[in-house]
Amino acid sequence: MEKLRIPGPTPCPDEVLQAMSKQMINHRGAEFGQMLNRVTENLKQLLQTKNDVFLLTSSGTGGLEAAVVNCLSPGDKVLSVSIGVFGDRFGSIAEQFGADVIPLTFEWGTAADPDAVRKALQDEAEIKAVLVTHNETSTGVTNDLATLSSVIKEFDKLLLVDAISSLGSINLPVDEWHCDVTVTGSQKGWMAPPGLAMVSVSQEAWQAHAGAKMPHFYWDFTRARSYLERGQTPWTPAITTVFAMYTSLEMMMKEGLPNIIARHARVGKTAREGIKSLGLSLFANEACASNTVTAVSASDGLDPNKLRKILREEHEVVLGGGQQKLDGKIFRIGHLGMVTEEDIEVVISALKVALPKAGFRT
Ligand SMILES: Cc1ncc(COP(=O)(O)O)c(C=O)c1O
Repeated sequence: MEKLRIPGPTPCPDEVLQAMSKQMINHRGAEFGQMLNRVTENLKQLLQTKNDVFLLTSSGTGGLEAAVVNCLSPGDKVLSVSIGVFGDRFGSIAEQFGADVIPLTFEWGTAADPDAVRKALQDEAEIKAVLVTHNETSTGVTNDLATLSSVIKEFDKLLLVDAISSLGSINLPVDEWHCDVTVTGSQKGWMAPPGLAMVSVSQEAWQAHAGAKMPHFYWDFTRARSYLERGQTPWTPAITTVFAMYTSLEMMMKEGLPNIIARHARVGKTAREGIKSLGLSLFANEACASNTVTAVSASDGLDPNKLRKILREEHEVVLGGGQQKLDGKIFRIGHLGMVTEEDIEVVISALKVALPKAGFRT
């Protein structure tokens, strides 16, 4: 069987696959309402939040757009903190809807510097919101969101967080870290297929929403809230993905959030140690290396795309490539969701055989 080790979509457990084979139900009926309420309650626990949580039928990017358009107005100044492809995307969404985006970018492979964020906020008093990626999937870096948040909240700014590849895998206590909107996606650490973005919305975000003038119809948080009160979503939801999330969340609750976070930490360490043992180097600065995705630099003659082809064809191991300017420069191992240290050892063993065939000279 193919070993899918890209940073999402991630493999689904058998129980989740079985849940998805169920017949459709009425999305305006009691059965769906009970399921939606249970999913929402479990999500709140795993997000460590008392804030509202909504399921949006979309991929993660739709959730990022929802965060922007529900909280901001054209012309609002927004600080876009970016450490890679997805940070840039978050800023582009805000720009597309007319925000006055101030980019604050950091070298790819490094984390955002809280002092630089403080300086940017000192320099521009009019900034209304700050966009931050918790875990930058394109470079395998996790930002120090706790510290970034405390800086951002010194200035009382709205904090919108792309936590698509971290929530449910890496610790992110949404309330303790004062995240106003956090966004994640079902196909990442949640062990479910693509189809749902999940967002949390704080009181401060609701206040911002009350005055937000960016156009929104499908993504309207007010509508999402009023329908959730009736156990529904405003629009036809991805029912099959809700079946999947219902089951995967029950599994996650059983494993327990601290155990899940600890497992991802062990798996991340196994990936990093394994990569180094092969003579390869991590693309990310190890101090901020992610526990859900490991980006590996191609050096010493290695062609990473040839490597991925060999791994897929000869070992049934599927890894991610580099995105944008990192295409041909790195490869990425996804280790989020249903993954153990043994799964990563299989990847490392396959790499050991495939690396010389892909040009790597130790
Ligand atoms: C950090 C991050 N942000 C945004 C996205 C985009 O999510 P989607 O492809 O589900 O729209 C991804 C997906 O890889 C991601 O990892």
